[in-house]
Amino acid sequence: MSILIKNIKQLVQVHDYNVMIVKGEDMKTLPVLENAYLYIEHDTIIEYGEMEYCEGIEAETIIDATGRIVLPAWCDSHTHIVYAGNRTSEFVDRINGLSYEDIANRGGGILNSAKLLQETSEDDLYEQSINRLEELIRMGTCAFEIKTGYGLTVEAELKMLQVIKRIKQESLAKITPTLLAAHAIPAEYKDKKDEYIKLITDELIPEASKLNISHYIDVFCEKGYFDLEDTEAILKAAAEHNMRPKIHVNQFNILGGVAIGAKYDALSVDHLEELNNDDIEALKNSETMPVALPGCSYFLSIPYTPARKIIDAGLPLAIATDYNPGSAPSGNMNFIVSAACVKLKMTPEEAINAATINGAYAMGISSMYGSITRGKKANLIITKPLSDYSEIPYAFAHDPVEQVIINGQLKDIKNPEENFRI
Ligand code: NIG
Ligand code: FE
Repeated sequence: MSILIKNIKQLVQVHDYNVMIVKGEDMKTLPVLENAYLYIEHDTIIEYGEMEYCEGIEAETIIDATGRIVLPAWCDSHTHIVYAGNRTSEFVDRINGLSYEDIANRGGGILNSAKLLQETSEDDLYEQSINRLEELIRMGTCAFEIKTGYGLTVEAELKMLQVIKRIKQESLAKITPTLLAAHAIPAEYKDKKDEYIKLITDELIPEASKLNISHYIDVFCEKGYFDLEDTEAILKAAAEHNMRPKIHVNQFNILGGVAIGAKYDALSVDHLEELNNDDIEALKNSETMPVALPGCSYFLSIPYTPARKIIDAGLPLAIATDYNPGSAPSGNMNFIVSAACVKLKMTPEEAINAATINGAYAMGISSMYGSITRGKKANLIITKPLSDYSEIPYAFAHDPVEQVIINGQLKDIKNPEENFRI
């Protein structure tokens, strides 16, 4: 199977040499080829260049992309797509004055979603989750990290892992699973948190490792959830099973989770709505990607991650949706790229770098995803006619995506019958 895309107005994020991460000042640069072609065989990017060098290239499918932008599909490195039902009633409670914390304190929030998920069958959970995922592929995302964390019992966390495994096997999207059993303290462990942590370190981590499903561990390091000591105990146990941290830190309070993440060689530290100079220092000389989640800040009306402080310190930054039923019930990366520009004061170049190559890095897949590079996987967005790639964040809440190529397959995203399964 071969595809040739011709007359591309702008081919965005083109790298002749494989770049795994973009940091600091370099994030301002987004390499673009004007009036270009792109040639794909099977699932792989084979060749690209300016149109004048396209002569003689044949392909089974030829796409005329006149007036359109082609860029790597979005890489969403932080999602909780596998959940049951929704939390619209808590949304209304918040509109009426309750805070996210008030709702959690009365036993709602994550515990509410956990109760619902425990009562939902594996098949039902799979259907709900894959439908969400397919809606997002239509919006241009082709690689997703997916966390557990709404199970909160050994049985229900393993059910979540099985659902994620099934999505990984059956979807054309690239899936990176993460074990987030330490998402909240279950009601039955309210006064014996240490026992729940022991359940995670002594049962769930070894079990997940035996199943060889998840190579990443997450902890919600936050006041009222898991403190620094808890976080370190979980990261230590996970390290013994070669599970690398991708952790929730600094959403509401600075506890020192960023430094703990760097100490345990976290692949990413996510949220960072609160951030101090010690956190910045801890991230320098680390291999850890800071990840901003502007959809969560928008939905909860909490501060936005200080992206300028991070990037201007020479650090890299990724952006992701945090798609979940409580704090960010949208997985639309086009909106996230726009919010990064409008609210985090990132330039369009920085935001697109953060949502492609750096998002791929935050899932450990940037050697194969996140840029237009020969040999990388063909996961691409072909936009509607646009003046320039800056129009993607500029026209906020519009849908810039006309076609998606996922794993080398051209998909008719406007056809409701289309699916994205292997
Ligand atoms: O990333 N902060 C912790 N976890 C999610 C929210 C989960 C929920 O409210 O259901 C987040 O914001
Ligand atoms: Fe999250």
